[in-house]
Amino acid sequence: MSAMSPPVVNGEFDKELKRGVYQAIYARRDIRAQFLSEPVPEKVLARILHAAHFAPSVGFMQPWNFIVIRKKETREQIHAAFQKASNEAAMMFSGKKREQYKTFKLEGILESPLNICVTRDQERFGPVVIGRTASKIMDLYSCVCAVQNLWLAARAEGLGVGWVSIIHDKEIKDILHLPEGVAPVAYLCVGYVTHFPEKPELEAAGWLPRLPLDSLVYCDQWAQECGNSWPELHSELVAAKAPYA
Ligand SMILES: Cc1cc2nc3c(=O)[nH]c(=O)nc-3n(C[C@H](O)[C@H](O)[C@H](O)COP(=O)(O)O)c2cc1C
Repeated sequence: MSAMSPPVVNGEFDKELKRGVYQAIYARRDIRAQFLSEPVPEKVLARILHAAHFAPSVGFMQPWNFIVIRKKETREQIHAAFQKASNEAAMMFSGKKREQYKTFKLEGILESPLNICVTRDQERFGPVVIGRTASKIMDLYSCVCAVQNLWLAARAEGLGVGWVSIIHDKEIKDILHLPEGVAPVAYLCVGYVTHFPEKPELEAAGWLPRLPLDSLVYCDQWAQECGNSWPELHSELVAAKAPYA
Protein backbone atom coordinates (compact mmCIF):
# COMPACT_ATOMS: atom_id res chain seq x y z
CA MET A 1 0.00 0.00 0.00
CA SER A 2 1.44 3.40 -0.91
CA ALA A 3 1.35 6.50 1.29
CA MET A 4 -1.21 7.89 -1.13
CA SER A 5 -3.66 5.04 -0.54
CA PRO A 6 -4.12 4.66 3.21
CA PRO A 7 -6.33 1.96 4.72
CA VAL A 8 -9.78 3.36 4.18
CA VAL A 9 -13.39 2.25 4.36
CA ASN A 10 -15.64 4.23 2.04
CA GLY A 11 -12.94 6.90 1.84
CA GLU A 12 -12.64 7.30 5.60
CA PHE A 13 -9.19 6.83 7.19
CA ASP A 14 -8.93 4.02 9.69
CA LYS A 15 -8.85 4.96 13.37
CA GLU A 16 -5.09 5.16 13.80
CA LEU A 17 -4.52 7.24 10.70
CA LYS A 18 -7.28 9.59 11.70
CA ARG A 19 -5.77 9.91 15.15
CA GLY A 20 -2.42 10.79 13.60
CA VAL A 21 -3.90 13.59 11.52
CA TYR A 22 -5.72 15.14 14.47
CA GLN A 23 -2.70 14.63 16.69
CA ALA A 24 -0.54 16.68 14.32
CA ILE A 25 -3.18 19.41 14.26
CA TYR A 26 -3.66 19.68 18.01
CA ALA A 27 -0.04 19.12 19.05
CA ARG A 28 1.38 21.63 16.53
CA ARG A 29 2.83 24.73 18.16
CA ASP A 30 4.54 27.88 17.02
CA ILE A 31 8.09 27.46 18.33
CA ARG A 32 10.45 30.28 19.22
CA ALA A 33 12.30 29.55 22.45
CA GLN A 34 12.71 25.78 22.39
CA PHE A 35 15.00 25.19 19.40
CA LEU A 36 17.95 22.80 19.53
CA SER A 37 20.90 23.43 17.20
CA GLU A 38 20.97 19.83 15.88
CA PRO A 39 20.75 19.92 12.06
CA VAL A 40 17.65 18.77 10.22
CA PRO A 41 18.51 15.75 8.04
CA GLU A 42 18.07 16.58 4.38
CA LYS A 43 15.82 13.55 3.89
CA VAL A 44 13.46 14.90 6.54
CA LEU A 45 13.63 18.40 5.06
CA ALA A 46 12.71 16.93 1.68
CA ARG A 47 9.68 15.21 3.22
CA ILE A 48 8.25 18.37 4.77
CA LEU A 49 8.87 20.36 1.57
CA HIS A 50 7.12 17.62 -0.37
CA ALA A 51 4.15 17.87 1.99
CA ALA A 52 4.08 21.63 1.43
CA HIS A 53 4.15 21.15 -2.34
CA PHE A 54 1.05 18.93 -2.13
CA ALA A 55 -1.05 21.77 -0.73
CA PRO A 56 -4.12 22.90 -2.64
CA SER A 57 -3.57 25.90 -4.91
CA VAL A 58 -5.92 28.08 -6.89
CA GLY A 59 -6.19 26.80 -10.48
CA PHE A 60 -3.33 24.40 -9.55
CA MET A 61 -0.97 27.32 -10.09
CA GLN A 62 1.43 26.20 -7.30
CA PRO A 63 2.60 29.78 -6.79
CA TRP A 64 5.14 28.89 -4.11
CA ASN A 65 8.92 28.62 -3.90
CA PHE A 66 10.82 27.53 -0.82
CA ILE A 67 14.17 29.15 -0.04
CA VAL A 68 16.01 26.98 2.46
CA ILE A 69 18.50 29.01 4.47
CA ARG A 70 21.29 27.68 6.62
CA LYS A 71 23.93 30.36 6.03
CA LYS A 72 24.64 32.21 9.28
CA GLU A 73 25.32 35.59 7.65
CA THR A 74 21.94 35.52 5.89
CA ARG A 75 20.15 34.60 9.10
CA GLU A 76 22.00 37.39 10.91
CA GLN A 77 20.80 39.91 8.34
CA ILE A 78 17.23 38.65 8.71
CA HIS A 79 17.57 38.78 12.47
CA ALA A 80 18.68 42.42 12.32
CA ALA A 81 15.64 43.19 10.16
CA PHE A 82 13.43 41.47 12.74
CA GLN A 83 14.99 43.45 15.56
CA LYS A 84 14.28 46.72 13.80
CA ALA A 85 10.66 45.85 13.01
CA SER A 86 10.09 44.49 16.50
CA ASN A 87 11.32 47.72 18.09
CA GLU A 88 8.83 49.58 15.89
CA ALA A 89 6.12 47.10 16.89
CA ALA A 90 6.75 47.61 20.62
CA MET A 91 6.01 51.31 20.20
CA MET A 92 2.56 50.48 18.78
CA PHE A 93 1.44 49.08 22.13
CA SER A 94 1.12 51.23 25.19
CA GLY A 95 1.57 50.86 28.92
CA LYS A 96 1.65 47.34 30.35
CA LYS A 97 1.07 45.74 26.95
CA ARG A 98 4.26 47.34 25.63
CA GLU A 99 6.24 46.05 28.59
CA GLN A 100 4.76 42.56 28.17
CA TYR A 101 5.42 42.63 24.41
CA LYS A 102 9.09 43.27 25.12
CA THR A 103 9.28 40.15 27.30
CA PHE A 104 8.09 37.84 24.50
CA LYS A 105 10.53 35.84 22.41
CA LEU A 106 9.01 36.18 18.97
CA GLU A 107 11.56 34.45 16.72
CA GLY A 108 14.19 31.72 16.69
CA ILE A 109 16.08 32.86 13.58
CA LEU A 110 19.58 32.21 14.89
CA GLU A 111 18.91 29.41 17.37
CA SER A 112 17.13 27.18 14.85
CA PRO A 113 19.47 25.41 12.43
CA LEU A 114 17.28 26.05 9.41
CA ASN A 115 15.11 28.87 8.10
CA ILE A 116 12.69 28.55 5.19
CA CYS A 117 11.20 31.46 3.31
CA VAL A 118 8.01 30.61 1.43
CA THR A 119 7.43 32.98 -1.46
CA ARG A 120 4.60 33.71 -3.84
CA ASP A 121 4.93 34.19 -7.60
CA GLN A 122 1.82 36.05 -8.69
CA GLU A 123 2.65 35.55 -12.38
CA ARG A 124 3.02 31.77 -12.42
CA PHE A 125 0.85 30.31 -15.18
CA GLY A 126 -0.84 33.74 -15.30
CA PRO A 127 -2.11 36.27 -15.76
CA VAL A 128 -5.46 34.44 -16.00
CA VAL A 129 -5.70 31.57 -13.54
CA ILE A 130 -8.80 29.48 -12.85
CA GLY A 131 -10.28 30.58 -9.53
CA ARG A 132 -8.20 33.77 -9.27
CA THR A 133 -10.34 35.82 -11.60
CA ALA A 134 -12.75 37.41 -9.10
CA SER A 135 -10.25 37.61 -6.27
CA LYS A 136 -6.58 38.14 -7.01
CA ILE A 137 -5.45 37.27 -3.50
CA MET A 138 -6.12 33.55 -3.95
CA ASP A 139 -2.49 32.80 -4.82
CA LEU A 140 -1.49 34.14 -1.42
CA TYR A 141 -4.03 31.87 0.27
CA SER A 142 -2.59 28.93 -1.67
CA CYS A 143 0.88 29.66 -0.32
CA VAL A 144 -0.50 29.80 3.21
CA CYS A 145 -2.00 26.33 2.66
CA ALA A 146 1.51 25.16 1.76
CA VAL A 147 2.86 26.66 4.97
CA GLN A 148 0.28 24.81 7.02
CA ASN A 149 1.04 21.50 5.28
CA LEU A 150 4.72 22.00 6.06
CA TRP A 151 3.95 22.94 9.66
CA LEU A 152 1.85 19.82 10.27
CA ALA A 153 4.27 17.46 8.52
CA ALA A 154 7.10 19.00 10.56
CA ARG A 155 5.17 18.33 13.76
CA ALA A 156 4.75 14.71 12.80
CA GLU A 157 8.55 14.56 12.22
CA GLY A 158 9.18 16.04 15.69
CA LEU A 159 10.32 19.34 14.18
CA GLY A 160 9.24 22.71 15.52
CA VAL A 161 8.32 25.56 13.21
CA GLY A 162 8.04 29.23 14.12
CA TRP A 163 6.55 31.83 11.77
CA VAL A 164 8.26 35.20 11.97
CA SER A 165 6.17 37.96 10.47
CA ILE A 166 7.73 40.94 12.22
CA ILE A 167 10.02 41.80 9.30
CA HIS A 168 9.29 44.24 6.50
CA ASP A 169 8.79 42.46 3.16
CA LYS A 170 11.20 44.86 1.46
CA GLU A 171 14.03 43.73 3.73
CA ILE A 172 13.37 40.04 3.06
CA LYS A 173 13.22 40.79 -0.68
CA ASP A 174 16.57 42.56 -0.60
CA ILE A 175 18.36 40.07 1.64
CA LEU A 176 17.16 37.02 -0.32
CA HIS A 177 17.36 38.71 -3.75
CA LEU A 178 13.74 38.04 -4.68
CA PRO A 179 12.97 39.06 -8.27
CA GLU A 180 10.21 41.43 -9.36
CA GLY A 181 6.76 39.80 -9.00
CA VAL A 182 7.86 37.44 -6.23
CA ALA A 183 6.92 38.33 -2.66
CA PRO A 184 7.66 36.75 0.70
CA VAL A 185 4.72 34.98 2.33
CA ALA A 186 6.23 33.32 5.37
CA TYR A 187 9.61 33.36 7.07
CA LEU A 188 9.90 30.15 9.07
CA CYS A 189 12.38 28.91 11.66
CA VAL A 190 12.68 25.12 11.71
CA GLY A 191 14.43 22.67 14.00
CA TYR A 192 14.22 20.00 16.65
CA VAL A 193 13.04 21.24 20.03
CA THR A 194 13.49 20.63 23.73
CA HIS A 195 9.71 20.21 23.95
CA PHE A 196 6.45 21.32 22.38
CA PRO A 197 4.53 23.56 24.80
CA GLU A 198 1.06 22.32 25.54
CA LYS A 199 -0.58 25.70 24.88
CA PRO A 200 0.24 28.64 22.63
CA GLU A 201 2.73 30.78 24.50
CA LEU A 202 0.57 33.89 24.09
CA GLU A 203 -2.31 32.01 25.71
CA ALA A 204 -0.15 30.74 28.58
CA ALA A 205 1.19 34.27 29.18
CA GLY A 206 -2.35 35.65 29.44
CA TRP A 207 -1.95 37.88 26.36
CA LEU A 208 -5.09 36.50 24.71
CA PRO A 209 -7.38 33.55 25.46
CA ARG A 210 -8.49 30.86 23.01
CA LEU A 211 -12.01 31.90 22.00
CA PRO A 212 -14.88 29.48 22.65
CA LEU A 213 -15.63 27.77 19.34
CA ASP A 214 -19.40 27.99 19.76
CA SER A 215 -19.12 31.80 19.80
CA LEU A 216 -17.45 31.71 16.37
CA VAL A 217 -19.81 29.38 14.49
CA TYR A 218 -22.92 30.95 13.00
CA CYS A 219 -25.86 29.32 11.29
CA ASP A 220 -27.05 30.39 7.83
CA GLN A 221 -26.15 34.03 8.34
CA TRP A 222 -23.83 36.30 10.24
CA ALA A 223 -24.35 36.35 14.03
CA GLN A 224 -27.13 33.72 14.00
CA GLU A 225 -26.35 31.14 16.64
CA CYS A 226 -26.85 27.44 15.95
CA GLY A 227 -28.60 26.38 19.18
CA ASN A 228 -32.08 26.00 17.69
CA SER A 229 -31.46 24.65 14.23
CA TRP A 230 -28.36 22.50 14.85
CA PRO A 231 -28.75 21.37 18.48
CA GLU A 232 -26.28 18.50 18.35
CA LEU A 233 -23.61 20.56 16.63
CA HIS A 234 -24.19 23.33 19.14
CA SER A 235 -23.83 21.12 22.20
CA GLU A 236 -20.67 19.50 20.76
CA LEU A 237 -19.18 22.93 20.15
CA VAL A 238 -20.04 24.07 23.66
CA ALA A 239 -18.42 20.94 25.09
CA ALA A 240 -15.39 22.20 23.12
CA LYS A 241 -13.34 19.08 23.51
CA ALA A 242 -10.91 18.67 20.66
CA PRO A 243 -11.57 15.23 19.16
CA TYR A 244 -8.53 12.93 19.40
CA ALA A 245 -6.66 15.54 21.47
C1 LIG B 1 0.58 34.50 9.86
C2 LIG B 1 1.25 34.24 11.18
C3 LIG B 1 2.26 35.09 11.60
C4 LIG B 1 2.89 34.88 12.83
N1 LIG B 1 3.94 35.69 13.22
C5 LIG B 1 4.58 35.44 14.37
C6 LIG B 1 5.73 36.20 14.75
O1 LIG B 1 6.19 37.10 14.05
N2 LIG B 1 6.33 35.90 15.92
C7 LIG B 1 5.86 34.91 16.74
O2 LIG B 1 6.44 34.69 17.80
N3 LIG B 1 4.80 34.16 16.39
C8 LIG B 1 4.16 34.40 15.23
N4 LIG B 1 3.09 33.61 14.87
C9 LIG B 1 2.66 32.53 15.76
C10 LIG B 1 1.40 32.87 16.52
O3 LIG B 1 1.67 33.75 17.57
C11 LIG B 1 0.83 31.54 17.05
O4 LIG B 1 0.47 30.75 15.96
C12 LIG B 1 -0.37 31.73 17.96
O5 LIG B 1 0.00 32.43 19.12
C13 LIG B 1 -1.01 30.40 18.34
O6 LIG B 1 -0.04 29.55 18.87
P1 LIG B 1 0.26 28.11 18.27
O7 LIG B 1 0.71 28.30 16.85
O8 LIG B 1 1.34 27.52 19.12
O9 LIG B 1 -1.01 27.32 18.30
C14 LIG B 1 2.47 33.80 13.65
C15 LIG B 1 1.45 32.95 13.20
C16 LIG B 1 0.85 33.16 11.98
C17 LIG B 1 -0.22 32.21 11.52
